[in-house]
Amino acid sequence: MSNNEQKRVAGEAAIRYVEDGTVVGVGTGSTVAFFIEALAGIKDRIQGAVSSSENSTAQLRKHGIPVFDLNATGPLALYVDGADECDPHKRLIKGGGAALTREKIIAQVAQKFVCIVDPSKRVDLLGKFPLPIEVIPMARSLVGREIVKRGGNPVWRDGVVTDNGNWIIDVHGWQIADPVALESDLNQIPGIVTVGLFARRPADVVLIGDKVM
Ligand code: A5P
Repeated sequence: MSNNEQKRVAGEAAIRYVEDGTVVGVGTGSTVAFFIEALAGIKDRIQGAVSSSENSTAQLRKHGIPVFDLNATGPLALYVDGADECDPHKRLIKGGGAALTREKIIAQVAQKFVCIVDPSKRVDLLGKFPLPIEVIPMARSLVGREIVKRGGNPVWRDGVVTDNGNWIIDVHGWQIADPVALESDLNQIPGIVTVGLFARRPADVVLIGDKVM
């Protein structure tokens, strides 16, 4: 099975975690796009969705799935999202699609975070995929210097503006042995909005194609 086919299988398999009558947290990316297609098939069973990006919102609305403001829903039972890398402890690198901030907010309020990936995303050590960091534009150089001090190679994702009006720095060259410590450390740097490490709040379930991890 191709990686794309495995994404579709994972997206469809996540439907079994959706509870009737709930508002579902929906992530961003090509794997989530398969989940949204499957969600459209059961849309009469749910109240609607909270979306992590303008792209996902557009896809949800196209299918007539109501999209709610998170401030109006309170905590969510379920969040379904993809990842760029996933380690054996279900800790993730996310943000390849620049949607990491809203993704992290929804992950934080979700009782269950189901991560859907194809097998290429499974790694033993996080960091081969450059770590995305969303920054306030005026802090780009400051954050870059702090990353260099920590042995990383920061690369500005030139031309990309996030849904929140900020910029993305991708950090190359880090082998992340302690993702919880690195996430906590980076969170202290002024100007960083969100670090694309999901280690302090990892996934609860990872679906690799149809396999549950
Ligand atoms: C979006 O910002 C990311 O966190 C995505 O969840 C991640 O890039 C996975 O995307 P794909 O499902 O397209 O591989």
